Amino acid sequence: MATTKTNTKTLDDLFLDTLKDIYFAEKQILKALPKMARAAQSEEGKAGFLQHRDETQGQIERLEQVFELLGKPARGKTCEAIQGIISEGEEIMEEFKGSPALDAGLISSAQAVEHYEIARYGTLIAWATQLGLKDAVPLLQANLEEEEATDQKLTQLAETAANAKGAKAA
Ligand SMILES: [Fe+2]
Ligand SMILES: [Fe+2]
Repeated sequence: MATTKTNTKTLDDLFLDTLKDIYFAEKQILKALPKMARAAQSEEGKAGFLQHRDETQGQIERLEQVFELLGKPARGKTCEAIQGIISEGEEIMEEFKGSPALDAGLISSAQAVEHYEIARYGTLIAWATQLGLKDAVPLLQANLEEEEATDQKLTQLAETAANAKGAKAA
């Protein structure tokens, strides 16, 4: 017999779940970025990944402030999406090791990560606004702006160097 359960979850629950999702994701990204920096062939690529690693540390701290505003412990929730994006990046690192197209591949993985983060922060900002979480909005907005700037830098790196280098035979 089919039973209908009343589900009392609201936008507050969605907000907290999604905050846990991006908190988990940022921590995974923090671990992945030094590996990407080591793998990158260009000095600019290495420096870019390391700079974003430092920014990511700050982003995690801002997320912890958002948990604090909610009066909740900062806890992550497994994000399979980011795990999948990061493992595809690791696949590129293995399969294109020593190839002139490696950096173009690394940049493409990093941009998939940034776009995931941009999607999450966009949603969290909209929900924080709806829920009247005024103090959370600027914290999330600061993270979003860093992700967008990183995405733009990656595009520039690809278009000014990595893609052309990757198109040449080794
Ligand atoms: Fe981030
Ligand atoms: Fe990022």
